Amino acid sequence: MISFILNDLIIQTDEKSGTPLLDFIRYRKHLRGTRIGCREGDCGACTVLEGRLEGTTMVYRSVVSCLMPLGNAQGKHIVSIEGLNTEILSPVQQAIVDHDGTQCGFCTPGFVVSLTGHATDQQPSSPHRVIASVSGNICRCTGYKSIERAAISISNVLKDKDPADPIGWLVQHGFLPDYFTGIPEKMHTLQKKALRARMARTLLAATQEEQFLLGGGTDLMVQKPEVVAVSVPHMLFDRADLKQISADQGDCIVGASVTVTDLHASPLMQKLFKRLDDYVYLIASEPIRNMGTLGGNICNASPIADLAIFFLALNSKVYLQDQFSGNFRSMFLKDFFNGYKQTALKPGEILHHLSFSMPGDDILFHFEKVSKRNTLDIASVNTAIGLKMQGNTISEANLAIGGVAPIPLFLKKTSEFLTGKSVSAQLPAQAAHIMDTEIAPISDIRGSEKYKRLLANRLIHAHFVKLFPKQ
Ligand SMILES: Cc1cc2nc3c(=O)[nH]c(=O)nc-3n(C[C@H](O)[C@H](O)[C@H](O)COP(=O)(O)OP(=O)(O)OC[C@H]3O[C@@H](n4cnc5c(N)ncnc54)[C@H](O)[C@@H]3O)c2cc1C
Ligand code: FES
Ligand code: FES
Repeated sequence: MISFILNDLIIQTDEKSGTPLLDFIRYRKHLRGTRIGCREGDCGACTVLEGRLEGTTMVYRSVVSCLMPLGNAQGKHIVSIEGLNTEILSPVQQAIVDHDGTQCGFCTPGFVVSLTGHATDQQPSSPHRVIASVSGNICRCTGYKSIERAAISISNVLKDKDPADPIGWLVQHGFLPDYFTGIPEKMHTLQKKALRARMARTLLAATQEEQFLLGGGTDLMVQKPEVVAVSVPHMLFDRADLKQISADQGDCIVGASVTVTDLHASPLMQKLFKRLDDYVYLIASEPIRNMGTLGGNICNASPIADLAIFFLALNSKVYLQDQFSGNFRSMFLKDFFNGYKQTALKPGEILHHLSFSMPGDDILFHFEKVSKRNTLDIASVNTAIGLKMQGNTISEANLAIGGVAPIPLFLKKTSEFLTGKSVSAQLPAQAAHIMDTEIAPISDIRGSEKYKRLLANRLIHAHFVKLFPKQ
């Protein structure tokens, strides 16, 4: 039994946990404002809000319902466009009208939901952040400038939002219907029902085959939608033990179900990586960042997985847990990938967390990515570098690159070459020369082999330009 709140109603359903939330909303609840565009997380027409109770406050994030398995709605408040409508237009809807931000209207519910999600954000609004909030929404007819103008006008209004009670302020100012103020109480009722359902589920678990592991679903629901839709996956997304980001005796621990947005919001990660903002905005779009997990990114073993590349350059270790015995084993992330889409995971194991030595002032780190589009696109080539410095000398180097081999590639020879070298104007070219012997790009839709070699070369230079601007 899956229990959640859809708009202002408590839902309890026996639907399969792999059912796309989109289908449940449209075909079971007949709420047709949530549109079907691509079913691949690319267009944002199906965007809804996912709310969770944190302490006494509701926190909302936008998600694409086509890739969200129903099981991940468990214990949450899901808001479709119908759940935002009142007798009059909300300030978000009015801004879209005022700035001519809609024509055929097909994409408009998705934009309204994303912008309302931005309004609920606890961080202060800014032009950059409000535009980023619609990075997952595509419009085929209006043209983005009018939508951007609408977004910026909303951002201006949000400057007055009360940071102590954002939801109360948004209800008062018509952004959200009145029923939102009663949601925390409903969530408590739901939690009691969910607890009973969980107990029933535990009794069932011995007889019920959970067919495969599922995090946010943003990879698997694109690759195998028909299989997931009729399945009972082993849901990892909301497991509390997989959600930690913490410091432990000089190491940073990141749980497998931490999302890209969780990483971005983490004060610890922000402290460790000064350019975290720039790196995060290179990954996917806001709803995909809200859903996609570290575990899914690493375990799908895609050669261009951004987080895999990021954490390879920190010489991270992964911790694998056997689900039956609870036992752990660990290995370096660079030894985890066995071949194209193959990992060292054994049957019954999950990636539980990874850890890396927390970079101090002596560590320089940088991530670069080039893709065909600025947002909502996977990399043609991505790369990250971690350098431990003693004065001008590199005492340890960890360099990783994606899109140029069957796996997210740790550049062993290039890293060894850089270790012990003094930084000079010639060093990037020498390192890029070694790197060229380690990679094996193929021509595909993201570029020819020649283009990717050239790109990889320029990105190695880019690391040094960013880290040593005076060389
Ligand atoms: C529109 C769009 C844009 C995207 N853009 C990017 C991008 O810019 N950069 C990028 O790197 N990726 C991108 N992706 C890919 C994807 O979003 C990420 O790889 C994401 O991190 C996958 O995480 P998930 O939790 O959604 O994975 P899921 O789909 O839940 O799982 C992926 C695989 O990992 C396994 N798995 C999940 N968690 C665990 C675990 N803890 N232990 C063992 N196995 C596990 C699952 O069984 C499955 O095989 C994009 C996807 C979409 C749809
Ligand atoms: S239908 Fe396109 S993102 Fe869901
Ligand atoms: S208004 Fe037609 S797709 Fe956006």
